Amino acid sequence: MRIGVLTGGGDCPGLNAVIRAVVRKGITEYGHEFVGYRYGWRGPLEDLTVPLDIQAVRGILPRGGTILGSSRTNPFKIEGGVEQIRSNLAEQRVDALVAIGGEDTLGVATKLYDLGVHVVGVPKTIDNDLSATDYTFGFDTAVNIAMEAVDRLHTTAESHHRCMVVEVMGRHAGWIALHAGMAGGANVILLPERNFDIEQVAAYVEKRFQTQYSPIVVVAEGAMPLEGQMVLQNQERDAFGHVRLGGIGQWLAAELEERTGKESRTVVLGHIQRGGTPTAFDRVLATRLGLHAIDAANDGDWGKMVALRGTGIVRVPLTEATAELKTVPVDRYEEVEVFFGS
Ligand code: F6P
Repeated sequence: MRIGVLTGGGDCPGLNAVIRAVVRKGITEYGHEFVGYRYGWRGPLEDLTVPLDIQAVRGILPRGGTILGSSRTNPFKIEGGVEQIRSNLAEQRVDALVAIGGEDTLGVATKLYDLGVHVVGVPKTIDNDLSATDYTFGFDTAVNIAMEAVDRLHTTAESHHRCMVVEVMGRHAGWIALHAGMAGGANVILLPERNFDIEQVAAYVEKRFQTQYSPIVVVAEGAMPLEGQMVLQNQERDAFGHVRLGGIGQWLAAELEERTGKESRTVVLGHIQRGGTPTAFDRVLATRLGLHAIDAANDGDWGKMVALRGTGIVRVPLTEATAELKTVPVDRYEEVEVFFGS
């Protein structure tokens, strides 16, 4: 077979490890041929290809980002987009696609599969919010980056007796905030899954100051106060209808300073969480997902996504992966509340 590979949506550490595993096993074990599509779904849409052989994937295992590039292009929002993809695939003699992406990229893969395109999906996102898989690669790296930032902020916060608010990514799921906050020993963790009471947060901060230690508040970019609206950077939406999140950290620090009378500063980690080399966990997970994705393609098991269940890799229908967002369950949040303010 001639198989096209693409990476869509926000980049994340481990994408190159998947590409490498797919190509290495696909060529050496199954004798398939590969073509790389540039910039997510824009690649097959505009016929943007690069050669993808064993030489092209040498040395990329530890590299962050994606050698194929990425975009948030949605071919279903472009008139004639799907027909264009079909005709470009035929022109390139591409029999099947391996699509590596999150909710949006795999949502497009699902619809294309319904229209008869041969596709296998690989889940990725630092947000860890995809159903049907226990973890997505990229998440562990993002959490470790955020944890290290929290560790560093503890010492400077204590030197100046300040409150530090750390805003992390995660969109509408609080996984990064929960894990980075737990691992870094944050004094308050705020998630999109539960609207927070600013009075209560100020009380936690005050209590922590009384212990002579400085409070670290980890806030997910999608977290919201009880009484207010979600704080958005702007109202523009991307091709999948997402607004750009961010700004809650600034708002929170200003409110806390006003309510407690103590200096509060904000650190927005932003895209640092997505950049650079993947952790060992993410390299192994990404590699295993790549190996199983090419097995699925070789078997002609289309419309499937490879997923981590416990320690095993399984195949699940693509529809299952995108059916609903995997958010932080209440009991996981309640577990960590004992540390708040102390
Ligand atoms: O989905 C991954 C993610 O990093 C989210 O955590 C974040 O909200 C979003 O992408 C940011 O997207 P962009 O890089 O397009 O601003």
